[in-house]
Amino acid sequence: MEFIEDPTRMSESSAAARKTGRTVGFVPTMGALHEGHLDLVRRARAEHGQVVCSIFVNPLQFNNASDLANYPRQLDRDIPLLEGAGCDVLFAPRKDALFKDFVPTQYDLGGLDAHWEGPSRPGHFQGVVNVVERLFFHVRPDAAYFGEKDRQQVTIIRHMARTLHWPERIIPCPTVRASDGLALSSRNQRLNERERAMATVLYKALGRAAELAFLQPLPAVLAAAKDILATEPEVVLDHIGIAHPDDLRPLVDWPETDTAVALIAAQVGPVRLIDNITLHRPAKADR
Ligand code: PAF
Repeated sequence: MEFIEDPTRMSESSAAARKTGRTVGFVPTMGALHEGHLDLVRRARAEHGQVVCSIFVNPLQFNNASDLANYPRQLDRDIPLLEGAGCDVLFAPRKDALFKDFVPTQYDLGGLDAHWEGPSRPGHFQGVVNVVERLFFHVRPDAAYFGEKDRQQVTIIRHMARTLHWPERIIPCPTVRASDGLALSSRNQRLNERERAMATVLYKALGRAAELAFLQPLPAVLAAAKDILATEPEVVLDHIGIAHPDDLRPLVDWPETDTAVALIAAQVGPVRLIDNITLHRPAKADR
């Protein structure tokens, strides 16, 4: 695997791959890799001749200084994991090089940041879109792979790719979970054993919503999910809600669509965790 720090060298590497007929699949990350990231790399590997992964802890998207300071950084551990998953190039730019001559843009996110993570983390999605634009500019991928755990992030990046005519195909990939349901996240490693056990309540609450979805009135389903959360009083809820699958606008009634999305964010010990699940309208025979 080639290790590239210099953004110009990164562009040359992708151009060279393309010259030999290889398409470029890209997995942007902030490192501290887990199976969820490696799944994205493997998917890119299956679909492209050249696979690039970036590791860059983007300061623009942290609205909390201690979250940025404590974000796990473990390049030495990440490199062999990427090699094992079949990555060809690791792009790990330095901050000053990636943001050389950079003036942040205030993007029109189409109102997609008005709910859920948007109000809880002011500036977060602007920071994400700004860095993704920089990374795409240097990597020039044909397709980029994002985990659905960050569902609102994927929704916003897809929207930006359409409105700004980014040539990249944006590929959302299913959330990878631990055997007890907890969505894999780099932040999970900051949980102690007790907090790690408590954290499973997020998935349990979403699971309750999935069982009752479309069968009971939406507010009753949310109340049932909150009852599950209340079984772990130390888990501090930021938000839980049900959204339209296309743009994640909050719903108060079930939509006409066959699916909806339940989203949750909560503080567990030192970390804020997010998760979401797709809710399916049961087939007629099950109702
Ligand atoms: O999902 C992430 O890890 C980050 O938000 C991303 C897309 C790499 C941008 O920094």
